[in-house]
Amino acid sequence: MTEKWIQGEVISVKHWTESLYSIRINAPDVNFIAGQYTKISLTIDNEEISRPYSFVNSPNEDFLEFYSVSVPNGPLSTALQKLKGGDSINVSPRGNGFLILNEIPNIDNIWMLATGTAIGPYLSILNTKDSWNKFKKVILVHAVRYEKELTYQKNISFLKEKYGDRFIYISYVSREDSKYSLKGRIPQHIANGLLENKANIKMSPDNTHVMICGNPEMVKDTTTELKKIGLKKHRRSSPGHITTENYW
Ligand SMILES: Cc1cc2nc3c(=O)[nH]c(=O)nc-3n(C[C@H](O)[C@H](O)[C@H](O)COP(=O)(O)OP(=O)(O)OC[C@H]3O[C@@H](n4cnc5c(N)ncnc54)[C@H](O)[C@@H]3O)c2cc1C
Ligand SMILES: NC(=O)c1ccc[n+]([C@@H]2O[C@H](COP(=O)([O-])OP(=O)(O)OC[C@H]3O[C@@H](n4cnc5c(N)ncnc54)[C@H](OP(=O)(O)O)[C@@H]3O)[C@@H](O)[C@H]2O)c1
Repeated sequence: MTEKWIQGEVISVKHWTESLYSIRINAPDVNFIAGQYTKISLTIDNEEISRPYSFVNSPNEDFLEFYSVSVPNGPLSTALQKLKGGDSINVSPRGNGFLILNEIPNIDNIWMLATGTAIGPYLSILNTKDSWNKFKKVILVHAVRYEKELTYQKNISFLKEKYGDRFIYISYVSREDSKYSLKGRIPQHIANGLLENKANIKMSPDNTHVMICGNPEMVKDTTTELKKIGLKKHRRSSPGHITTENYW
């Protein structure tokens, strides 16, 4: 089936590092639920190249925002990085995906685990009232290689100020020492209890739902560790505690 595109216009591109950037786009009539992704496309050398990207903005905002890393030799991510205000870009008008709160049972604590650019959909969700009506505590965990990749700190400070102890933000920097972040990987720290200690919250099947998004190896390894402590994959037909989305 050929995709129906909406033509959008780039408002601005924010370059966080040499590889990480966020694109703001003006595009009418794009409908989605916070946490979902859509496809965006560019024509490169006469070929239409499209890929899925999660919305960072929430549905109540009047612009679209996508957060991306330029992958070496990646056809679309390297082209998107070169965009400038005023350039055209195609956006699919529908949101897709199940990393959304409507799919998640009512529970006390929601853990949102991300590697790299996969923090985006959680920022979209946390900018909606639903997330704060539905859970007692929100624990956002962001794992990156280098400290400078801990982006969107203004949004995180805003959430901390607004929601105080109900919002816990834990960062991981895996490839250098960092004063305020844990070093290592999320699954290992679930296995040895360090992540629960840092949050000061126990993960147990009666109080926990975990959303996991990003690097598929991290999603897999984390799911394995969560299963060992009694959590299971969530399905509509069989409610559980783990909801995942792989970025590749
Ligand atoms: C449901 C879904 C949502 C997605 N949302 C986002 C998003 O919001 N932001 C985003 O940056 N990417 C996202 N992606 C990945 C995105 O669609 C592209 O694959 C990515 O931007 C690279 O595109 P490319 O054409 O340059 O290279 P591709 O040929 O698509 O990918 C080449 C390789 O790059 C690596 N890679 C791809 N994406 C990433 C990533 N995000 N971080 C680290 N390594 C990666 C993988 O090893 C992959 O095999 C999403 C993917 C899926 C399936
Ligand atoms: N980040 C950069 O400096 C940079 C610069 C230019 C281009 N790129 C390209 O962007 C892509 C990836 O970049 P990225 O850093 O955003 O994503 P990434 O490789 O997914 O790394 C993000 C975080 O996920 C962790 N991780 C990886 N595998 C894991 C697993 N199995 N379990 C738990 N945690 C895991 C990493 O830890 P570890 O560090 O332990 O792996 C890191 O902390 C690559 O193609 C890369 O070449 C990256």
